[in-house]
Parts: sequence; structure tokens; C-alpha cells
Amino acid sequence: MSTGGGSRAPVPMPPPVPVIAIDGPTASGKGTIAQRVADALGFHYLDSGALYRVTALAALRAGVATTEAAAVAAVAAALPVAFPGGRIELGGEDVGDAIRAESISEAASIVAAHPAVRAALLDRQRAFRKAPGLVSDGRDMGSVVFPDAVLKVFLTASAEIRAQRRHKQLMEKGLAANLPAILHDLRMRDARDSGRAVAPLQAGAPEAVLDSDGLTIEQVVAIVLERYDLAVRVQASGRSAGAGGSTLQG
Ligand code: DC
Repeated sequence: MSTGGGSRAPVPMPPPVPVIAIDGPTASGKGTIAQRVADALGFHYLDSGALYRVTALAALRAGVATTEAAAVAAVAAALPVAFPGGRIELGGEDVGDAIRAESISEAASIVAAHPAVRAALLDRQRAFRKAPGLVSDGRDMGSVVFPDAVLKVFLTASAEIRAQRRHKQLMEKGLAANLPAILHDLRMRDARDSGRAVAPLQAGAPEAVLDSDGLTIEQVVAIVLERYDLAVRVQASGRSAGAGGSTLQG
């Protein structure tokens, strides 16, 4: 049977919308770096941690215990969350500050360990992949949500430096902050995010690691942009050589 198109040259697939996946532990500066890289490239930005934080907030407000996986997953699936103009809204209310409270950081880490909650948020995260590109930050951006990301970065810093940064942030906002307590909580959360069975925080390829100890925000942004430039060139040469869609890690 004729297909009617036998003599036509095959139409090349358009390249997928590029994604830069920036993963790393809590308070590693991922959000700031990812947002600035997105601005520099004119890309969209996804703060995936905000989705887990809003889920935790919505669950607590609905009287759902964070340990109740199925009930929290139902909250996540129906989450009326929106990001208009970079704000974070839950049912139209700006919850940008509320989700940064230490109690919500703790609750988010608990809800994020439930596979059903992660599954409920997967398509919502992938929907952010729109032209001309996306920079997303989280824990499993490169490993689970966007495994074909053109660039994967694992942004880290020592626990002490991260605790100091978080302490400074809280003080600047006029919120109560105790450095030893922050360091303790941060280590607990690191252990939970890295040790959970599903989508644990992991560095991936060694060349993905970017340790920001001793580097300024501008320096880290410049390194990510350089890596992206290189990754795009490697991908393009792979495509023209017929290899198609090679992924550079780091
Ligand atoms: O990045 P963050 O601190 O805002 O993340 C809040 C919590 O959500 C943290 O405990 C880790 C979890 N998280 C996750 O499991 N997967 C993601 N992609 C993003 C965040």
C-alpha cells in the first residue's frame, strides 16, 4: 500500500526546547543563580522547590498531615498555584514569604519524600518547558524531570556557608534566626533529601558539580553560561555529524 509520500525527503525534527537543569542542596543559591541565568538568556524560569513548598502550605492549611502521602498527593494534584510576574500565588493569594518560613521548609522536605506527591507534580513542572528555553532548579531536574536537559549543573557549597547565607537572608528580612539551629536543620534536610528512596538529591556526573564556596554570584552565573555555551556547541556538532541530541553533563 502506498503512503503517498515515498519520494519526499524526511522532515527533520525541530530541536527540543533547551533546558538548563540546576540541582543542589538547600540554600546552595540555586534560585538566585537559575533566575539570573534565565534572565541573561531570555529563558523561562521554574523554581520547582516552590511547588513542594506551596503543596506543604496548602496541605497544612487544609488540615492534612504532611505524613499522609495520598492526601497530600491529592492536594498537589489540585493545587491552585500560579506564578504571575514572578510572584507565587496560592488561590490568588501571594504566598512568596509564607512558603519561605522554616516550618514550611521542614514540611516541604517531608511531602517531597512521598512518591505520589512527586508524581502529581511531574507534568506541572514539564509544562514550564516553553520556547525559547527553560532554566529550572530543584533536586531532580536533571535526573527525573528533564533528563534530556542540554546542561546539568549540580550547584553546591559547604553546609556552613549555606547556613550562613540562610542566616543572613533571614536577618535581612527581620526574621528570627539562630545560626547553630539553621545549620542543624539544614543538615537534617540534606540527609532527608539525599537519603529518600525516590528521586534523591544526587550530583550526577562529576563534571556537573559546581562548588560555589568562595565564588560571587556573578562568577557562578558566568560559569553556568560558559558551560551552556559549550554544551550547545557540542550538541550542534553532534547533530550535524548525525549523532543527534547528545547531552553534555556539567
Ligand atoms: O529548593 P527548596 O529548598 O525550595 O525545596 C524545598 C523542598 O522541596 C526541599 O526539601 C527539597 C524538595 N524539592 C524536591 O524534593 N525536589 C525538587 N525538584 C525541588 C525541591
